[in-house]
Amino acid sequence: MKLHTLIPADAIATRVGELGRALAAELAGEPVLMVGVLTGGVVFLADLIRAMPDQPMEIEFLAARSYAGTESTGTVHITQDLASPIAHRHVVLVEDIVDTGLTLTRIREALLARRPRSLRVVTLLDKPSRRRVPFTPDWVGFEIEDRFVVGYGLDLDGAYRNLPYVGELVSDEV
Ligand code: IMP
Repeated sequence: MKLHTLIPADAIATRVGELGRALAAELAGEPVLMVGVLTGGVVFLADLIRAMPDQPMEIEFLAARSYAGTESTGTVHITQDLASPIAHRHVVLVEDIVDTGLTLTRIREALLARRPRSLRVVTLLDKPSRRRVPFTPDWVGFEIEDRFVVGYGLDLDGAYRNLPYVGELVSDEV
C-alpha cells in the first residue's frame, strides 16, 4: 500500500485558520466549551483552538464507540463522558470526520438533553455520500468523496494519526 496525499498540511492549516476565525466571530466573545471527540478529533482540536487565540474557552473530551449491528441504525455508546455539566453553556463538538452520521447524531442527542445554551458541530472532513442518518455539521473543513482516509488524527487500526496531512491508502499494484 502507498500513501497518496489528498489534503496537504498547508491546505489544512489555511482552512483551520478560516474555521477558527469564523467560529470565533460567530461566538462573539462568549465563553465556549470546545469538546474534542476522541481519538480522531484531537489533532484538529489542537490546531483549531490556536486559531481562536482571543476566544475565552475551556476544552474537554468525550469518546464514543459504534458497534455495527444488524439494525440499520447501528448502536453508538458514549464510552468516556464529559467531566463537567454543560447546561447554559455554548458547546462546540470537534470531530475528525462525519461518515454515516451515526456517531454525532448520538452524541448530539445526549448533549442536547443536558440543555446547553448552544451546540455546534465542526468537523474537519465530511463524506456526505455515506450518510445513513441525516446529519448536517455546522462547519465543515473539507467535503470528500467516499474514500478511506488517514492522517491528521484519522487512523487505520490505530496507525497514521500523526501524519501532518490527510492521505489515502492506495494499492501499489497497477
Ligand atoms: P460515523 O458515525 O459513521 O459518522 O463515523 C465517524 C467515525 O468513523 C469517525 O470519527 C472516524 O473514527 C471513523 N471514520 C469514518 N470514515 C473514516 C475514514 O475515512 N478514515 C478513518 N476513520 C474514519
